[in-house]
Amino acid sequence: MIDLKGRDFLTLRDFTPEEILYMIDLAAEFKAKKKKGELHEYFRGKNVALIFEKTSTRTRCSFEVAAHDLGMGATYLDPKGSQIGKKESIADTARVLSRMFDGIEYRGFGQEIVEELAKYADVPVWNGLTNEYHPTQMLADMLTIREHFGRLKGLKLAYMGDARYNMGNSLMVTCSKLGLDFVACTSKKYFPDSALAAACREYAAISGSSITLTEDVMTGTKGADVIYTDVWVSMGEPDEVWEERIRELTPYRVTRQVMENAGEQAIFLHCLPAFHDHKTTIGKEVGEKFGLSEMEVTDEVFESPCSKVFDEAENRMHTIKAIMAATLGMPEASRRGGE
Ligand code: CP
Ligand code: NVA
Repeated sequence: MIDLKGRDFLTLRDFTPEEILYMIDLAAEFKAKKKKGELHEYFRGKNVALIFEKTSTRTRCSFEVAAHDLGMGATYLDPKGSQIGKKESIADTARVLSRMFDGIEYRGFGQEIVEELAKYADVPVWNGLTNEYHPTQMLADMLTIREHFGRLKGLKLAYMGDARYNMGNSLMVTCSKLGLDFVACTSKKYFPDSALAAACREYAAISGSSITLTEDVMTGTKGADVIYTDVWVSMGEPDEVWEERIRELTPYRVTRQVMENAGEQAIFLHCLPAFHDHKTTIGKEVGEKFGLSEMEVTDEVFESPCSKVFDEAENRMHTIKAIMAATLGMPEASRRGGE
């Protein structure tokens, strides 16, 4: 019997494949309840704090809606509107918030910050994205892939773009734990950290999957079931890096040729937000400056039937709900279908 009550959710490296699958199954149960209009306010009277030192649409909305659906209150602390970091240390913030809240979400910069928060907090801490990891996104991605293919083990996921950052790292960890073959298909400079890749090769040896790092687009994406990409410049990185990223990563843009090379079964995923047109301020500015109409993915692929990005975005909410419920401790009665 799996019991995650009281656990922090900082990176999927801390969880066994069985624990990860348990949370995905729980998310699927919550999704089914939500679709049927069945209330599931199992945590009435509890409250969660949501700290965002970087901006967000999906993660913030998912935590807020999920908290509300579970009967909880949610307090949002925006990148500027609190004392965190400037007047109050992470350790002090953790101890203050633990006296008022039952769980704390944190989105920010270094992984060591969310770890410090978790060390000093007496309640579960959930990582809503750091430079190194984006674990809540992983459960949504895996739920989406499983809904589409009916399984996870044995599938091949090819990640194109900056594989050294949060999305590349987290996908490599998650795929290797759950038995999907992971390919980082990008220029060598953007290959994941070798120590992390070595750890993931050990997970892969247990799950029976593989880790491949390749610069070759055609072999890297051949037969892939999932083609995945992310923005070329992440939140918190300086604008100056755009030029080199565009030069170095344009060969790894997700195009129709890439999808065709993967095969008819392949789906396209992206954590979003995505630069696939000029309908955003940054997309327009950068696009006009460098003469590009799209960046990491073409508009054609993004809008095509193989693109499952909005199913994926919806699943952020169901999976974040499962993460909160599992770590806050699902009441026994709810597991039997009642309250
Ligand atoms: N995918 C994701 O984390 O989106 P937000 O930045 O909008 O939360
Ligand atoms: N790599 C991106 C992911 C956004 C969800 C970033 O950190 O900005």
